[in-house]
Amino acid sequence: MGKLKARHILGIAHLGMEEISFILDTAVSMKEIMERPIKKVPPLRGKTIVNLFFEPSTRTKLSFELAAKRLSADTVSIAASTSSVVKGETLIDTARNIEAMRPDIIVIRHSMSGAPYMLSRHVGSAIINAGDGTNEHPSQALLDLMTVREHFGRIDGLKVTIIGDIAHSRVAHSDILAFTRMGASVTVCGPATMMPPEPGELGAKVCLDLKDAIRDADVVMALRIQKERLGRLSPFPSEREYADRFGISTAIEPYLKKDVIIMHPGPINRGVELSPEIADGINSVILKQVTNGVAVRMALYTLLLADLQEHG
Ligand code: CP
Repeated sequence: MGKLKARHILGIAHLGMEEISFILDTAVSMKEIMERPIKKVPPLRGKTIVNLFFEPSTRTKLSFELAAKRLSADTVSIAASTSSVVKGETLIDTARNIEAMRPDIIVIRHSMSGAPYMLSRHVGSAIINAGDGTNEHPSQALLDLMTVREHFGRIDGLKVTIIGDIAHSRVAHSDILAFTRMGASVTVCGPATMMPPEPGELGAKVCLDLKDAIRDADVVMALRIQKERLGRLSPFPSEREYADRFGISTAIEPYLKKDVIIMHPGPINRGVELSPEIADGINSVILKQVTNGVAVRMALYTLLLADLQEHG
């Protein structure tokens, strides 16, 4: 494959296995640039990327910005709280005004599922979804795939267990799609109240017992409890009880495979989803996920803008 078929990165649902492999292979080349003493290369000189974040972010926002700078693109970021959105401007009006300034790519994070898709229908710039509501977080899934492939040398045939708030997690939705598409089997685990109504439709098995869910897993991914999306009624009695039943700690370690890798998209609620010993332990690849996030986002820019250049 010489180029991406997709013109936007809206979700893993829109990417085939070949396209995902192509992005991961490109990300490996980008990571090599990141390991050099001089981490800046010129291919996107003259290109402009706007980051539009309507929800808080540390990793995603910073890595999209760093990725652009390392490829010599000009990048500007605006947060909803300091934009005219607070004066009542709609998302489409905001995006059309940004587009009038001729960016090549708009990266958007929004609390509304489908917001990036809606933008892609109304503006001419390429759109990258940096997380939309409870729907998808495709660049997170791609960096998760990269981290697993880097560690095991493959994804096909691996057993991946995702623990936590599957119903509300865009990371879980993208990861289930991504890992199953690449040949891994995915089990989800967590309180029954945090499972989607039809998890089988996503392609994942459900196991409500943590020990059973992690016993054979090559990859254990803990998810953040998304307090901001839970509403008034908590789906579990207390964080303490959640940690006891679904937290990964030294108490549960004997049930993990010796060579398991522990992942988390961040930010971590330490002592809830993961104990500090596990989050910082030798099986943890959490900071490698963060490093790979920059490489994946460099790959997405390079591939999307190469396509734009080709078609003028
Ligand atoms: N993984 C992730 O999306 O983290 P941020 O919210 O810090 O971007």
